[in-house]
Amino acid sequence: MIRAGTRDELQPVLAAARAAGRRIALVPTMGALHEGHLSLIDRARRAADFIVMSVFVNPLQFGPGEDYAQYPRDVERDATLAAARGVDLLFAPDRSIMYPYGDPAALIAAPGLDSRLCGAFRPGHFRGVLTVVAKLFHVTGADVAVFGRKDLQQLVMIRAMVRDLDFPVEILDAPIVREADGLALSSRNAYLSTEERPQAARLHQSLERAQAAFSGGEVAAAGLIAHVTAVLSGGNLVRPQYVDVVDATTLSGVERARPGDVIAVAAHVGSTRLIDNHTLT
Ligand code: PAJ
Repeated sequence: MIRAGTRDELQPVLAAARAAGRRIALVPTMGALHEGHLSLIDRARRAADFIVMSVFVNPLQFGPGEDYAQYPRDVERDATLAAARGVDLLFAPDRSIMYPYGDPAALIAAPGLDSRLCGAFRPGHFRGVLTVVAKLFHVTGADVAVFGRKDLQQLVMIRAMVRDLDFPVEILDAPIVREADGLALSSRNAYLSTEERPQAARLHQSLERAQAAFSGGEVAAAGLIAHVTAVLSGGNLVRPQYVDVVDATTLSGVERARPGDVIAVAAHVGSTRLIDNHTLT
């Protein structure tokens, strides 16, 4: 695996891959790699023959009270895991490389989707995400990029950016990878205490309960949301932030759920904010 920290290190490697006729896939991450991230490499491998993984904790997508400073960083560990899984090129730039002119004056926003779900609680977050992802697309010139369904709103907004602004990249998604008790893998799970960790599984359990109710004929969004809230509230350390049933493309709330609609949830477990979602079948 080749490692690059600057555009100048990256570009000749990518140019050589392109000259050799290779299809380039990008897997953007913020590092602290786990099996969820690594599954994206497997997905990329099925669609491309040269895989670039980026590791960059993007300051632009963290709000003032959020965990930018304490976000776990261990690029040597990440490099070992990425190489073992088959990444061809690891791009791990410093902040001064990604943003050499300081905070960017130009940003990418998707106002039609920004106020939904997490966007309502994390002002500016998705502008930060779209802006860094756009930069990574430009810097790598990737043919295809892979994102996890764990961050469903992020995925939907990146698809919208690519579609509406004619980015020449194909977006692929990959399913949510979970722990044995259903907790979605996340770099932030490391913040959970031993008392909080079992209660974190309630996010997934609540979505399963909603699916069971939907399968049993409950289609009213309010009814499904009540099931989710009931399971979440059973944990004394769990504080739901939002529970919503939304259209999978517009992210707007629905009153009557149909297969393909998404139930999305965010909750604090202790002081750790976790998200999860489930596509109704
Ligand atoms: P990060 O949280 O590191 O996630 C990187 C990618 O891994 C995202 O596409 C995310 O959806 C996926 N992922 C995380 N946990 C997963 C899981 N349990 N199962 C499947 N996929 C999972 O998302 C970001 O970083 C950043 O916002 C980024 C896109 C890199 C822009 O900075």
